[in-house]
Amino acid sequence: MASSSIPISILLSILLSSLLPVPSIAIKNRPLKEKLSHLHFYFHDIVSGRNATAVPVTPPLKPFLSGFGQINIMDDLLTLGPTPNSTAIGRAQGFYASASQSELGFLQAMNLEFTHGKYNGSVLTVLGRNAPLHAVRELPVVGGSGLFRFARGYALARTHWLDPASFDAIVEYNVYVMHY
Ligand SMILES: *[C@@H]1O[C@H](CO)[C@@H](O)[C@H](O)[C@H]1NC(C)=O
Ligand SMILES: *[C@@H]1O[C@H](CO)[C@@H](O)[C@H](O)[C@H]1NC(C)=O
Ligand SMILES: *[C@@H]1O[C@H](CO)[C@@H](O)[C@H](O)[C@H]1NC(C)=O
Repeated sequence: MASSSIPISILLSILLSSLLPVPSIAIKNRPLKEKLSHLHFYFHDIVSGRNATAVPVTPPLKPFLSGFGQINIMDDLLTLGPTPNSTAIGRAQGFYASASQSELGFLQAMNLEFTHGKYNGSVLTVLGRNAPLHAVRELPVVGGSGLFRFARGYALARTHWLDPASFDAIVEYNVYVMHY
């Protein structure tokens, strides 16, 4: 009888191992743990004057009041606070293309390149629809590099200040991003 029964120590170790957590995915033995980060900053879209950071590269098509057809390339300053002299944290590099025939509505594609603090050297890539006359615009975060590898999330854009004569604008961004 005793010879056919499984020793209690083996039973215990089988039981214990089934209770242990499944090993998680790891890169170079460092366990990956997904986290949510919230970034808050201001985006300075200067389209007028000699120091413009967003410039049209195609003119709008004449029959459309929405500016349909116009593409602007930007290298816009990102700051911690709402004034241009606030701490610079990076640049928004990319373009916004007027892609709506009926209202001001852009296809916006940009890399948020961070140059300050712990995200210095990391990039978030944003691609989405931006209708600048709407109070809040939501744009998907589709990827990233550096500390933002595997990033996904969304950005909420709100116009903080707009010069109705020049269309220079300061936009508040809240970005929520999942990454490892
Ligand atoms: C452009 O920037 C320079 C250097 O910051 C400044 O001295 C100049 O006044 C600016 N020009 C305009 C038109 O804003
Ligand atoms: C920064 O700019 C704002 C307005 O744009 C001004 O009121 C403030 O005095 C400036 N601060 C510094 C430190 O230059
Ligand atoms: C950001 O990183 C670059 C390259 O490593 C470095 O030269 C620069 O001083 C850093 N900037 C800040 C504000 O830490």
